[in-house]
Amino acid sequence: MTKSTAVCLLAAGKGTRMRSDLPKVLHKIADLPMLGHALNSAKGCAPSRAVIVTGHQAERVADAATKLSPDAVCVVQEPQHGTGHAVLQAKEALAGFDGDVFVLFADTPLIRPETLVAMAEARNTGAAVVVLGFEAAEPGGYGRLIEGADGLDKIVEAKDASPDELAVTLCNSGVMCVDSITLFKLLDRVTNDNANGEYYLTDIVGLARGDGLPCAVVRCDEEETLGVNSRVDLAAGEAAFQQRARTAAMVAGVTLTAPETVSFSHDTVLGQDVIVEPNVVFGPGVTVESGATIRAFSHLEGCSVASGAIIGPYARLRPGADIGPSARIGNFVEVKNATFAAGAKANHLSYIGDATVGAKANIGAGTITCNYDGYLKHRTEIGADAFIGSNTALVAPVSVGSRATVAAGSVIVEKVGDDDLALARGRQVNKSGLAARLRQALAESKEKLKDS
Ligand code: UD1
Ligand code: MG
Repeated sequence: MTKSTAVCLLAAGKGTRMRSDLPKVLHKIADLPMLGHALNSAKGCAPSRAVIVTGHQAERVADAATKLSPDAVCVVQEPQHGTGHAVLQAKEALAGFDGDVFVLFADTPLIRPETLVAMAEARNTGAAVVVLGFEAAEPGGYGRLIEGADGLDKIVEAKDASPDELAVTLCNSGVMCVDSITLFKLLDRVTNDNANGEYYLTDIVGLARGDGLPCAVVRCDEEETLGVNSRVDLAAGEAAFQQRARTAAMVAGVTLTAPETVSFSHDTVLGQDVIVEPNVVFGPGVTVESGATIRAFSHLEGCSVASGAIIGPYARLRPGADIGPSARIGNFVEVKNATFAAGAKANHLSYIGDATVGAKANIGAGTITCNYDGYLKHRTEIGADAFIGSNTALVAPVSVGSRATVAAGSVIVEKVGDDDLALARGRQVNKSGLAARLRQALAESKEKLKDS
């Protein structure tokens, strides 16, 4: 029987180097707070419980945590005396739990779920404490993993390391897996007798070895262990996430003609054979079905695009845009909270908000749904096969029936019935030869002014 697992996320640190009023772990990568990324990583160990250790701006972090993971328990570490002290704050919340605990840092957003699976496997093969390590290009301030004949012997923090230990390039990512009973027994014995005067979580490895318990290192790529301490790190985290998302999309059968220019959100869903042209931005909550094309410079968020639809270039789909199969949303068209049925088209320069557009309806250039009266939003209903002439203002609430035609330049304030033609504009009047006479009169006045 596999044991249940818990995750303990450390999120108490101040994050001084972010220079921000926002707690560090709430800064976003691909539209999701780093805390959410860490919770996503934790899914790799399928935790039945999550404890989040907060400290700096504890309430704000706890509010966000509850939204991201309603079942998570937040505990407060105040003051903050180090990573070992932080994990100890979770002891009460994990009372009675005897499965494995994965300790993760909330400011380390790129750990792959599969990596935690590898750690769980290492635990199952007998290691009491499993530590996630990586070969560091620049080991600098990282804790060093000191291996012996029987696996991992100890972790030495850089500030406490000897020159020989500092020469080791295998470093501690901070992620650990250890069963709950052993973890808290060992933590009770950790002291703060070190260069920082802190209680180090990392000391449990040496203590475990002293008790004759085997410890092991699981290795991952350095990229996964990126910890965010500054805005520069945040940008590096974003870049790494985007790189992964692009690769994953292409592997899954999406064509990206210029991958490095496409920006994904943490939850973007693209079907097979979707084509995404350069400079497209996906905000949160976008689903694009198989075979749709998102042309260059389009911006999408909170919307869905069905199979065969073509969006853009230069289109903007805002939350609630639901674009049906083979529909067309062209350049400089903004759609918000509106449904386009199959084959409907708005190809140029329009705003369609709070509306329903029927199948194969054609929305002419410059059509605007006037959905807001300054106080309330109102809906526009357009029937199937309707034709809305260019530069029409549809003053909502209003409806245009199926197969109806609205003449260009109309301001529609009343219901248009099925199969009707609506004309709502000034009648054209032509005055024969009047332009020529007007021009002559104006030219003469100008001459007179010059002479005077
Ligand atoms: C830690 C590790 C080090 C490792 C490095 C990887 C220890 C003692 N050292 O060092 O071996 O190489 O991470 O980045 O564990 N935190 C709390 N409460 C505290 C202190 C920290 O919640 O009292 C949280 C921080 O918010 C952060 C995480 O724990 O998310 C790591 O703390 P940090 O101070 O960055 O540890 P490092 O010195 O980087
Ligand atoms: Mg750190």
